[in-house]
Amino acid sequence: MSSELSNYFSDYIMNKKLILLASATLCVASVSAQRLTPNNVDDIVKALTLEEKAELIVGGGWGSMTAGAMTASSDVLVPGAAGTTNAVERLGVPRTVLSDGPAGVRISPTRQGTNQTYYATGFPVGTSLASTWNVQLVAEVGKAMGNEVLEYGIDVLLAPGMNIHRNPLNGRNFEYYSEDPFLTGKIATAYVNGIQSNGVGVSAKHFAANSQETNRMNVDSRLNQRALREIYLKAFEMVVKDAQPWTIMSSYNKLNGPYTQENRELLTTLLRDEWGFNGIVMTDWTMVRDIAAQVHAGNDLMEPGMPQQKTDLIKAVNEGKLSMEDVDICVKRILEYIVKTPRFKGYKYSDKPDLKAHAAVTRQSAAEGMVLLKNEGNTLPIKDAKKVALFGMTSYNFIAGGTGSGNVNKAYTIDLLSGLKEAGFEVNEKLKNLYEGYKAYQLALQTASRRSVGGMMAMLSLGEDPLPEMPISRAIIDNQVAENDIAIVTIGRNAGEGGDRNVPNDFTLSDMERQMLNDVTEAFHLAGKKVVVVLNIGGEIESASWKSMPDAILLAWQPGQEGGYSVADILTGKVNPSGKLTMTWINNYMDDPSSKNFPYDQVSDGMMGMGGNVRGNVKNVSYCNYEEGIWVGYRYYQTAGKEVSYPFGYGLSYTTFAYSAPKVTATKDGFRATITVKNTGIVAGKEVVQLYVSAPSGGLVKPESELKGFAKTKELAPGESQTLTIDVDAYSLASFNEAASQWETAAGNYSIRFSANVNDTKATVPFRLAKGQTWKANDILKPAEPIKEIVVK
Ligand code: BGC
Repeated sequence: MSSELSNYFSDYIMNKKLILLASATLCVASVSAQRLTPNNVDDIVKALTLEEKAELIVGGGWGSMTAGAMTASSDVLVPGAAGTTNAVERLGVPRTVLSDGPAGVRISPTRQGTNQTYYATGFPVGTSLASTWNVQLVAEVGKAMGNEVLEYGIDVLLAPGMNIHRNPLNGRNFEYYSEDPFLTGKIATAYVNGIQSNGVGVSAKHFAANSQETNRMNVDSRLNQRALREIYLKAFEMVVKDAQPWTIMSSYNKLNGPYTQENRELLTTLLRDEWGFNGIVMTDWTMVRDIAAQVHAGNDLMEPGMPQQKTDLIKAVNEGKLSMEDVDICVKRILEYIVKTPRFKGYKYSDKPDLKAHAAVTRQSAAEGMVLLKNEGNTLPIKDAKKVALFGMTSYNFIAGGTGSGNVNKAYTIDLLSGLKEAGFEVNEKLKNLYEGYKAYQLALQTASRRSVGGMMAMLSLGEDPLPEMPISRAIIDNQVAENDIAIVTIGRNAGEGGDRNVPNDFTLSDMERQMLNDVTEAFHLAGKKVVVVLNIGGEIESASWKSMPDAILLAWQPGQEGGYSVADILTGKVNPSGKLTMTWINNYMDDPSSKNFPYDQVSDGMMGMGGNVRGNVKNVSYCNYEEGIWVGYRYYQTAGKEVSYPFGYGLSYTTFAYSAPKVTATKDGFRATITVKNTGIVAGKEVVQLYVSAPSGGLVKPESELKGFAKTKELAPGESQTLTIDVDAYSLASFNEAASQWETAAGNYSIRFSANVNDTKATVPFRLAKGQTWKANDILKPAEPIKEIVVK
């Protein structure tokens, strides 16, 4: 990897020289009166030379990403931003700036020559936001995040991450939303609309079937058309149709043969012709590939951009391997994007977004994304306990978000210690001192090893690594029992781009964690005192083997920079939990039908998933057959009748709800469902009603039920009711018939289930759809050979 990186940098320097040379030549050659306006894009396309077109199609290089506190940044617009587009000054085309990522703006927090800081808010990660099942809230978070995009001089946020949780071990699942495409599509739509309401853009990523980090640059995701359309493309289709993202990011991987970036069927026939996308497609941060194929496919922009790509493009046109027409189509779209940007419009950004206001948004949304998994004997909210024994390294080193490009350079992270103190608890000092001493020691070790790696690795702020768990003796624990009213144990996990997670010590608890949990629960229970587990994690972990031990389990996710406060808000009952799982929590890793061919026994292959080596259970990581087809997540577990630890959609509350008067009536194009939810408990709370549909038998094989709608109540006071309305159209009931290349919604008897989670249906209403419908689609994106899929039904 390091040699690849140094190639990038020599390319970058070359690039700079070329740009200087090109602009010097152009200054001499022509002084044009013509300047880009929203109304003369076609004229500008005509006025551009081939060299200038190449400038626009190829991004501005690695300069902004590597600039910041450590390197000069005079010609960099926003130090630390992931990329830029190039300018053509003689025609009034400015550069624009692209920055990560899904949990907030990722830029360099300090700059040479100034004491000002440029911290951004670390918002909750994708799984956390999705677990709110609250589209209004997600739109508000998007609005706040988009304001930071605007005020830091950025034009496009490289988010949302929309890939499906195909397997629990994907190292980037924390950036993504769910195992379910409908939920992903709805949350992503809200997020994109929120961000873009600021007049800035997004880049919905990673398009498509980018389901693993192992060999992520080259793995060929092989899957049948139905699984591809229904599971892996559906959310992108929804977001394109409902939110019109300014840009889409084509993924690193191959899809049924070609790279997604070189696949015209994907980027033009499907995305543009079928779905009506009218923005630009940019590559994920890729090295040189076949640029003629990329441009012809409809991949408008190459990011981050390397000089060789320009040379290749010019050569391909000159040799007749790439038509000027194809080039012009991309250039036109890029110009249409540029005229929308704040930079083109001359927006005077402040570099001072309202971080305080956004911290409040973060605290509130993170709390709403937390999922209460267990609450025996109403352990939570904590009522009489004041003195807390706080166990687990992560309690003192809270994890706000994941690593890699999903990380945010935030000013601080509130740990659980601070959160509990603010809430008025007394956290045991002796125990705290032990942990803090161990933390200081571990941090020193980590810094030393970072320094010894040096260079680029040290510069890239890759996020907060969880620190190793501190060994703790039973004697210390017993002392804590006497001194405290309650114990809280935090379990932490982190992951990020470039690597998938492992089963031992990551999906499952480590021996030390298990021992700690065992000893703490045993000791506190002997004294009649309660134990609460807080999970500060980005993706699913194994829970079946240990969930019986503690009295309560709160899944806090990676809740952003205010994390400790948000957790305390739930523990004290200031906020009543209303988050629901967006993925199934399984009993055993191998229960997941994708586990058979998901590379899990990971050995490090260097940085960023560029290696192509053999992994434990998988002999050849150059491809992955999606043999589970559409049987992803609950679609499989429910249909196969497999027991799980916590089902999709699960989450407890401090209050109870009654569902009544469900109704389903036909509409012009589908049905309208209504149901009344009443808070029957003694504290205020919100409930999510999930609408699952079981299709008539006879047509295509379908899962037992599929999520086709959901709605969340406002905060209902005790005794208060609200009637929720959910509209479902015929198209969203459709399945994809590969033989006929069409979406099909069968006429017949449907069951409409109103549920608190996929396995807990509160009311079922039959609905007869009088007329079936079909929608023709292109017969595209086929695997070379059909993938042999498992049979579930
Ligand atoms: C990641 C993208 C990210 C880009 C720019 C890539 O390695 O896959 O998600 O937006 O880098 O940082």
